[in-house]
Amino acid sequence: MAGRPAPSLAAPPAASRLALRADLLDFTSDPGWDPPTDDTPGLRWRPDHWLLIEDGRIAGVQAAPPGADWPREDHRGHLLLPGFIDTHVHMPQMEVVASYGTELLHWLETYTFPAEQRYADPAVSAAGAARFLDALLAHGTTSAVVFPTVHKTSVDALFAAAEARHMRLLTGKCLMDRNAPPGLTDTLASAERDTLDLIARWHGRGRLAYAHTVRFAPTSSDAQLALAGRLLEAHPGTYLQTHVAENRDELQWVAELFPQSRSYLDVYAAHGLVGPRSVLAHGVWFDDEDRALLGASRAQVSHCPCSNLFLGSGLAHWRALDDAGCAVSLGTDVGGGTSLSMQRTMADAYKVQALQGVRLPAWKALHAATRGAAEALGLAHEIGSFDVGCTADCAAWHYAVGPMAQARDAVASSLHERLFAWMNLADERNLVATYVAGRHCHVG
Ligand code: GUN
Ligand code: ZN
Repeated sequence: MAGRPAPSLAAPPAASRLALRADLLDFTSDPGWDPPTDDTPGLRWRPDHWLLIEDGRIAGVQAAPPGADWPREDHRGHLLLPGFIDTHVHMPQMEVVASYGTELLHWLETYTFPAEQRYADPAVSAAGAARFLDALLAHGTTSAVVFPTVHKTSVDALFAAAEARHMRLLTGKCLMDRNAPPGLTDTLASAERDTLDLIARWHGRGRLAYAHTVRFAPTSSDAQLALAGRLLEAHPGTYLQTHVAENRDELQWVAELFPQSRSYLDVYAAHGLVGPRSVLAHGVWFDDEDRALLGASRAQVSHCPCSNLFLGSGLAHWRALDDAGCAVSLGTDVGGGTSLSMQRTMADAYKVQALQGVRLPAWKALHAATRGAAEALGLAHEIGSFDVGCTADCAAWHYAVGPMAQARDAVASSLHERLFAWMNLADERNLVATYVAGRHCHVG
């Protein structure tokens, strides 16, 4: 794509003021793992309140109705949450979701790489980016850290589509210069050229940020990993995203490709890729030394329980990561994961922790999907909560849809009981409306 894309007309102009009435739930800090109560520190619950939005930002929260000069939308009896932040998801993989019968490496070869090759076509990229972001909004997700493909055109399409929707989005071209089909590989020279061009045109523009996107260690040469480290260091404010320690066969392959490294994580650490702006997906097979390194480096792990269950990758240990001081957020990892729903992701996270003897409170899960992810990304001043001054990204939800959820909701005797049932039983069918920067952009 030559030059800057024209601004899109897809979004209506922001009303300078909007008041939303609903039950407001967000967090002021990490509620932790202690047995949850309705007064757990960090939880902020403001039932039947008004969220006041001016020029796309949160101007206040109050119990009393605002003056008659405030346009309003009344979601009384519904839950209002900050927009979800999905910290690991693949734009070109909606078409391979729920593909049968393989673990990670064969799944990539059989389903994923063929699908991604189609994104060399700018028309496929443009249509795919629009469909993908509209799908995120239809799931109440307003910000994401996204893998496109190796093709520059897929990144242009994704940034342009996010800008048109005013979404906070982090992405960057996949770096892959080996062990992938010819239609999906770059070279050192083309990777550097494309990255520099994309950073120049998109990074820091509006709500967009560039993320150096090492697909995973097996598809990048040592020289390309070193390039990614240099680019990350040379461009302050950019991020790094990759996959790490997801699957046992993958681990074995990485050990063969990088015999000098103590662990898979060390391959990245040796190239300066593990730091406070790194988003590392999975981390199923970390050991204590890896976790200590993560805690010290302030990198974040995107836990993707739905994908880890579907591909049979294993059980990531959220609590152990947390205890080591490593921030953990949540990723749907579509198409390894089978849903863009962050509720389903939280529900699967609960089960994955339960299999390891740990109980995940709804507060901890909801914090990770909102403010926790925002803090780990250094974006808590903008997203993840109803703090005054934040951009008004939020979603209104039905408490219960369908006879079973309604029966369960009717007998909940505490707020945590109600929200825990919601986290396990709700999905995108519960969505009432999604707002991005105060714009009503999706009706459920
Ligand atoms: N590792 C390398 N590429 C991928 C991918 O596309 N999905 C998942 N889940 N793991 C990966
Ligand atoms: Zn992934």
